[in-house]
Amino acid sequence: MDFNVIEAIKERRSVRTFEEKPLTAELKQQISDYIATLSNPFGDDTVRIPITDRRLADSGEKLGTYGVVKDASAFIGLLCGRSETSIVAAGYEFEQLILYITSLGLGTVWLGATFSRKKFSAAFKIKKTEQLLAITPVGYPAKKRLVERLLRTVARSDTRLPWNELFFNENFSTQLTADVAGDHAEALEMVRLAPSATNTQPWRIVKNGDRYHFYIAFKEKPSDDEYIFRLIDMGIALCHFDLSLKSANIEGQFTHVDPNIPDCPIAYRYVATWSPTESPE
Ligand SMILES: Cc1cc2nc3c(=O)[nH]c(=O)nc-3n(C[C@H](O)[C@H](O)[C@H](O)COP(=O)(O)O)c2cc1C
Repeated sequence: MDFNVIEAIKERRSVRTFEEKPLTAELKQQISDYIATLSNPFGDDTVRIPITDRRLADSGEKLGTYGVVKDASAFIGLLCGRSETSIVAAGYEFEQLILYITSLGLGTVWLGATFSRKKFSAAFKIKKTEQLLAITPVGYPAKKRLVERLLRTVARSDTRLPWNELFFNENFSTQLTADVAGDHAEALEMVRLAPSATNTQPWRIVKNGDRYHFYIAFKEKPSDDEYIFRLIDMGIALCHFDLSLKSANIEGQFTHVDPNIPDCPIAYRYVATWSPTESPE
């Protein structure tokens, strides 16, 4: 990793108000170069991340973000194929990019709802096989406006659920402590700090030996849009977990084999399992 992931995760906050100045050509190039290096551990190759120039950003934010964003220097789009794996993979790659951009001292915010799909789909020349999941503005963070402070209050953006509501040991009735998580505790804490749509924090994780099973917690039957948001949220969580472990030189891989934990709540949906890479004898 060519930046400090843990620092970037702790540093990142949604930024919706920017200084009115364009990105330097050098920063824009760094971001484009980084986008070209992105991949995901789920074998999905449908993710596409285009970046716009400032001219589109100028008219785009007035027409396209309903006043939520002010003075962005550029916009970046997140497009992918229609499968569930593609959506999780897209969440993973885009969050890695967001963390990289944070490490450059710039601001971003995931926008999955408050932007004009029509306008940005046209700007990003969306293909028939693609869906536009989200966009982010990019720019130099400025002092928050009232509308932004209100949005943060409504979404309770500065709070996160405690460990005992998110992380479990062996089954859903036993809490996981940082002591028991050992070397993996920091990566779990980095999941806890992750952004999620309306700060829902839908990730639930069960440790089973040295494996970690990831679930999405639904409260009630989700709408199609909510379902997509939860899959993106999960991609973000898997990104934080995986990159945090990699930064501690702990390698692993993701598989999809439901462990069928007996006391799993009906509304929870199994997504993936992380297991460590066996070191060669
Ligand atoms: C998938 C996703 C979609 C989001 N969509 C929007 C959006 O449409 N509008 C908005 O203002 N914020 C949006 N957010 C930002 C969240 O509200 C924000 O991440 C959360 O409240 C936590 O705050 P933080 O990012 O400052 O930690 C979205 C976040 C995620 C992860």
